Amino acid sequence: MDGTTREALFQIQGIPLPERLVKYWARVEQFQASKEDLLIATYPKAGTTWTQEVVDHILNEGDVGRCRRAPTQVRMPFLEMTSPDGLSAGITKLEVMDPPRVIKTHLPIQLVPRSFWEAGCKVIYMARNPKDTVVSYYFFDRMNLTQPEPGTWQQYLEKFMTGQLGWGSWYDHVKGYWRERQNKKILYIFFEDMKEDPVREVIRIAQFLGKQLSKSMIDHIVQMTAFSAMRENPMANYSTIPDTIFDRTASEFMRKGEVGDWKNHFNAEEDAAFEEHYCRLMADCPIPIRFT
Ligand code: A3P
Repeated sequence: MDGTTREALFQIQGIPLPERLVKYWARVEQFQASKEDLLIATYPKAGTTWTQEVVDHILNEGDVGRCRRAPTQVRMPFLEMTSPDGLSAGITKLEVMDPPRVIKTHLPIQLVPRSFWEAGCKVIYMARNPKDTVVSYYFFDRMNLTQPEPGTWQQYLEKFMTGQLGWGSWYDHVKGYWRERQNKKILYIFFEDMKEDPVREVIRIAQFLGKQLSKSMIDHIVQMTAFSAMRENPMANYSTIPDTIFDRTASEFMRKGEVGDWKNHFNAEEDAAFEEHYCRLMADCPIPIRFT
């Protein structure tokens, strides 16, 4: 694929999405989910890959060989992933895969194909505080040469706050899933909680998936899905993506994996403006987001 082409964004129902998705949108919208499928939904850079790795380890009861059968994007395809040749598009992979499938999406809840709700699929939504999310997204957009040109940090932060980045407003995204979590089968988890107590969170995820795992199995899964382990695992660290797409001189995919790295990037003025804006936009939906 010509990975050096940075894509523009276009809007679907007011949400900016990669322009190549136009070609695939009807197939994405009409995708037939089965009730055994599991959807992992996140705003970009919220810890999607981490959640996927934890889920795969739970479903495969910690079998390391099974969890290394293929790279993340093959094991758990990305629903709205595009590709110029069509062959590696997420929807192309999913259409030939038998349920039960574990499917990744960044779509806001209103754009999730209707069949997921009609089939009563389980959904795991991971949220991450917006300051760490925007920093992670900025470095990702610098290194991922298919993403729109990020511009300067100041310009990028402004675009994040005004919902102009790919997949739209972080604020609307986290609120959309939060408000529906009790009406649908949504397990809503937080990156910061996973960092704080991965054992507790892996147990919650396992219970949601109906899996009873021993204490030693949970410990094993926590170990195998820790940042340090995933960073060294070629099936979980996106090292299979060529350098023509991921410019690793700009950043690593497995960059830091921390809570609070935003403090190294926001100056005092940016932080004050962000806080004021955040409080205003989140006032109607008090989600317990933690920044440290
Ligand atoms: P940073 O850029 O802050 O390091 P996504 O998978 O949604 O694209 O999210 C990527 C972010 O999750 C990156 O954040 C990455 O380092 C972090 N991440 C991936 N695996 C992780 C893990 N096991 N523990 C902590 N953070 C992880």
